[in-house]
Amino acid sequence: MTSISRLLTAFGLALMLSFAGPAAQAQVNPTGSSVTEDALFEALGSGGMVSGRATIPDPEAGMLIKPENKDWAVLQGSTLQTLSIVAVLGMLALLAVFYLLRGRIRIEAGPSGRTILRFNWIERFAHWTLAATFIVLALTGLNLIIGRTIVMPLIGENAFGTLSAWGKIAHNFLAWPFMVALAMIVILWIVHNIPNRLDWEWLKLGGGLFKKGVHPPAKKFNAGQKIIFWSVVLGGAALSWTGVMLMFPGNLAGPAEWQFYQTIHALVAAGLSAIVIAHIYIGSVGMEGAFDAMGSGEVDENWAKEHHALWVEEVKPKALERGGPKVTTPAE
Ligand code: HEM
Repeated sequence: MTSISRLLTAFGLALMLSFAGPAAQAQVNPTGSSVTEDALFEALGSGGMVSGRATIPDPEAGMLIKPENKDWAVLQGSTLQTLSIVAVLGMLALLAVFYLLRGRIRIEAGPSGRTILRFNWIERFAHWTLAATFIVLALTGLNLIIGRTIVMPLIGENAFGTLSAWGKIAHNFLAWPFMVALAMIVILWIVHNIPNRLDWEWLKLGGGLFKKGVHPPAKKFNAGQKIIFWSVVLGGAALSWTGVMLMFPGNLAGPAEWQFYQTIHALVAAGLSAIVIAHIYIGSVGMEGAFDAMGSGEVDENWAKEHHALWVEEVKPKALERGGPKVTTPAE
């Protein structure tokens, strides 16, 4: 080939390539580093589904990628993550505002120095088993949703890996004592948590939580506590049911059912965690004298009269029969 014909051939090739440019770009090279996932799915013409052939007798095993799984991953990685953070931080912010406006709710008449038994040891054992297991379950569960975004950058990949592996074991094992304690509080307290007319009066007065000198009468549990009780019982039951389903996925019809239970589990956990944070606040720093009910089991008589006047009327005669309320400080 002469040098002129070589030159013409090269020119012709360059011209062809320049026209063929856009078409060449549309060709997807699956191994190219710049290839996007969406372009790959489009080129495969599979509607976003990638499947292969499996030799084991499980049709699901050949399914590598499904569009529904990607939707669920977005729900899990973004929507549930945001909801969990908003639920927990939102409740903490509300409580901070409440504390700034109302301060600690005091025993207005001051401590009397006489105490009455409020919860016996079985009730306290059930409560603290439920409380301790719930707190670990909530933290280890929350770690699955927001850990990679929030905890991993703080402690590094290795520590986060170890923490999450132990967290998963703790989550699976502590679920069982949580369920036992949940059943115990249902048996012990359900009779005291049936709603009645008094609850409506209590709610109309905001339980006296927002104003000094307001003490709506209540029996063993007031309306606010009944709301906590039923949230814990119904939320705890929903968490237990969905949790057991997730622990034994072999019994489920397929990934869609697993994703359904996982989504319900995460949503209920976020909501119940926010409610429990409010409960922990009012049962500790938020109200003077409240913690003793679950600490020693004995509450100050004046605290009891201010928050559970009808309950005091009910139990005091029995306490007197047994030798009267306990005097914890010398009378002045
Ligand atoms: C470490 C934090 C906690 C503290 C300091 C705490 C404190 C208390 C106190 C003082 C009471 C008795 C209130 C009274 O005498 O009327 C109580 C009751 C109760 N607690 Fe807790 N608790 C904690 C965690 C939890 C958790 C995590 C749960 C459930 C998951 C829970 C569920 C309940 C329920 C259902 C009641 C009965 C209803 C009520 O009084 O609101 N507690 N708690």
